[in-house]
Amino acid sequence: MGRSLRIPGLIDLVRADARADIRGLADDGRLDRKFEPRGPLINRLLVLRIRNVLRLAGTPLPSVAPRDDARRARAQEELRRRLDPAAGKPLWDEETIAALAGAVRGAPGAPPLGPAAQQAVGRLFAADYKASPQSWAAAGVLDAAVHTRNPLQAAFLHLSGRLRRSRRLLADLVHGDPAGVHATGIAVHNLVRGFERMRELWKEPRWRSPAAVDAVVEQCVFAPPSVLRQAVMPGATVCGAVRAGTLVVLELGAARERAAGRDVEFMLGNWAQCPAAAFVPALLQAVWKRAIAVPESEAVS
Ligand code: HEM
Repeated sequence: MGRSLRIPGLIDLVRADARADIRGLADDGRLDRKFEPRGPLINRLLVLRIRNVLRLAGTPLPSVAPRDDARRARAQEELRRRLDPAAGKPLWDEETIAALAGAVRGAPGAPPLGPAAQQAVGRLFAADYKASPQSWAAAGVLDAAVHTRNPLQAAFLHLSGRLRRSRRLLADLVHGDPAGVHATGIAVHNLVRGFERMRELWKEPRWRSPAAVDAVVEQCVFAPPSVLRQAVMPGATVCGAVRAGTLVVLELGAARERAAGRDVEFMLGNWAQCPAAAFVPALLQAVWKRAIAVPESEAVS
């Protein structure tokens, strides 16, 4: 059952963490990602933050763009097709897999997980993508600017120009592709959590059996902790009544902890589904298989 937090003039929020509720809300035509500044104070502040942070050249990044945005939907479908491992086109190179497998194994000379994962994702958008401490820090800034609970930190990132510079750097590296900025600045953090989990599993020899590959991958697919919707009109939802401007938090991370499933992790089957839903488990699998295949003594180059 959803939980409402309503203080007149201050906040109007609905939160859902049960899988059936999330699916019902995600399909509800009254909820969208138009993110108009309306409703009580905190709602407006949260919406303004999304609008200020998750945009490129005045346009919202695809993960916060409205349902009826035809360009978003077209790009989502094109990217989904391009990232389909079944299509037969290589989605990663040898250097990428070796670096990630080395980072999972903690091999001497292996790069840190964050930049290695960012580079793997970045190369989907720019074949020559090279992650650096700067590009990884930029991803941290973008993520903090949208997720921090500290309004002073949010204001500092904005006013100091760090947010603008970080977004510019991320955008330049993917040749200005908005999906690439989302992927290398925001989505990559979910992937890194997965590789961190993989690193923990690596320490337990029982998981290193080829028979355990699928079970390992399942444990390493992490959903975003939450995604946001805004009611565009009043009405009754599966989690109670909403007014125009009510913010609805779909707590994917909590739902996934109870029952894993691609409909929760990637919103599969929904208009907002992640175009990397097939790519992510395939990459995790390729990295794990490499990690368990290389002899213990081998270092990464
Ligand atoms: C563990 C990794 C990932 C997870 C769990 C994940 C999950 C999700 C989810 C749940 C959404 C829907 C957001 C919403 O409904 O508001 C989404 C959207 C999106 N994701 Fe991912 N994602 C991951 C990695 C990636 C990667 C690697 C890419 C690109 C290469 C990517 C590209 C996108 C894009 C472009 C959207 C926006 C789709 C649209 O509505 O047009 N994601 N992702």
